[in-house]
Amino acid sequence: MSQPSQQSPSPPVLTDLASLITHHTSIITNFLTNRNLPHPQFSTSIPSFPPPDCPPKIHMSRMSIAQLCRDLAELVLGPIDALIHPLVSMKVDIGVLRTINYYNIPEAVPINGCIGYEELSKRTGLNADILKRIIRYASTTGIFTEVQYNPTSNSHTRNKDSVQSIKEGVGVAHTPTSLALLTSPRLRGVLRHNLDDIFPAFLSLPESLQQNQNSQEPNESPFNFAYKTEQTWFDWMSKPGRETSLQSYHQTLGFLSEGAFNAGLAASAPVFKRLGPGSTIVDIGGSTGHVSIALAQQLPHPNFIVQDLPSTIESVKSEEIPQEVRDRIQFQPHNFFTPQTEAADVFLLRFVLHDWSDKYCVKILSSLLPQLKANPAARIALLEVVLPEPGTVPTFVERGARSADIQMLGYANARERDRGHWDRLVKETDEGLVVWDVYEPVGCAFGVVEVGLRGGRTGIEQGSLE
Ligand SMILES: C[S@@+](CC[C@H](N)C(=O)[O-])C[C@H]1O[C@@H](n2cnc3c(N)ncnc32)[C@H](O)[C@@H]1O
Repeated sequence: MSQPSQQSPSPPVLTDLASLITHHTSIITNFLTNRNLPHPQFSTSIPSFPPPDCPPKIHMSRMSIAQLCRDLAELVLGPIDALIHPLVSMKVDIGVLRTINYYNIPEAVPINGCIGYEELSKRTGLNADILKRIIRYASTTGIFTEVQYNPTSNSHTRNKDSVQSIKEGVGVAHTPTSLALLTSPRLRGVLRHNLDDIFPAFLSLPESLQQNQNSQEPNESPFNFAYKTEQTWFDWMSKPGRETSLQSYHQTLGFLSEGAFNAGLAASAPVFKRLGPGSTIVDIGGSTGHVSIALAQQLPHPNFIVQDLPSTIESVKSEEIPQEVRDRIQFQPHNFFTPQTEAADVFLLRFVLHDWSDKYCVKILSSLLPQLKANPAARIALLEVVLPEPGTVPTFVERGARSADIQMLGYANARERDRGHWDRLVKETDEGLVVWDVYEPVGCAFGVVEVGLRGGRTGIEQGSLE
């Protein structure tokens, strides 16, 4: 009988994690100090963090710290507490956030100074006791803070008018998070879309799977199950009377053009760098143009045609397109299930195919084939999540990609795809079509999958490109 092996002492995981957090923290601190930028603080008087144009290395350190802190908390809480604590408060977080948004509480709290509960009650229509319970919970999650008002010494109360109603005692003031809710209509749209409109789909996930787990139909999804509708999510939100849902959805898409989702990060991909004067990018399913705007700001040459459904194209406000790129961006209604009408050097689809199951992706890609065959140097650029192999990227990053995958299931029985799946999908569309390149910009939440005809000459040889 073999002897049980002597157990080696467990590694000092806690201190290892803490050291790694310190390491990444100093990378960020040095970066901010060297650039003379403000350091993040729990204060509304500091510009929000991260700064614009945050380099990829800093972004990766941010992601690493977020994950390491999570890991550290999980270890010190132990497996049961680490599961139960967030689970129990998750539903409360959602209810409280919805209430804050629904009653416009951020607008009722003065930007500077604070407001008493009685006055806040008058402004919001919620009774003072409920308000106090809601705010006190929210403040444990970083949204709003209670401050003690003392007319002689409280530096928080800079705006004397806003504190007249409380004289002295407890007042509610903004934190950076609640201030962001006040100043960013887009962020409020993201809350409405995620919590008011699409959340029920995820609550219904198990029951829906019992009925439809093998379906590729976008109208047999968890969303359909939850809303008891046969309309797809897109059709449902486009109906008259659902303008707020449509607007919130597009605000969410706009939000997904910032930070790691900034479409400008894709501009360094070879498929775009090659484009010379007179070239054209057709941005298919391009919403109200935020992807084309971000790319146009990085790429001096190409002209853009943004295509989307008529209801979306009609909502475009050309005065909102930055002036420096306005004359290079046109808008056009086009249904991407019908043959593409425009010739182009690049047919760009960002976060379009992830809305559809394979069966429909093949149809969308097939609609481009006649244009590719007419100009074999043309390319399709799929700006999409390329799911990583498990454990190959920081877990926080992997979690974002896998969360997107389950989200797509919830909306429309759709999905995110890994490299092998992209290859298969392209081949299924047409044997002559291949993935030429997969470019993954550092710090970017999506990759650029370059697709074209096998043997199609490159633009460089053809001379239409730089
Ligand atoms: C997930 S959004 C992506 C938007 C944008 N490309 C981005 O990256 O933010 C998908 C877009 O496809 C559009 N869409 C849905 N069905 C369409 C169709 N049949 N033809 C054209 N556009 C469609 C939607 O209106 C929406 O703007």
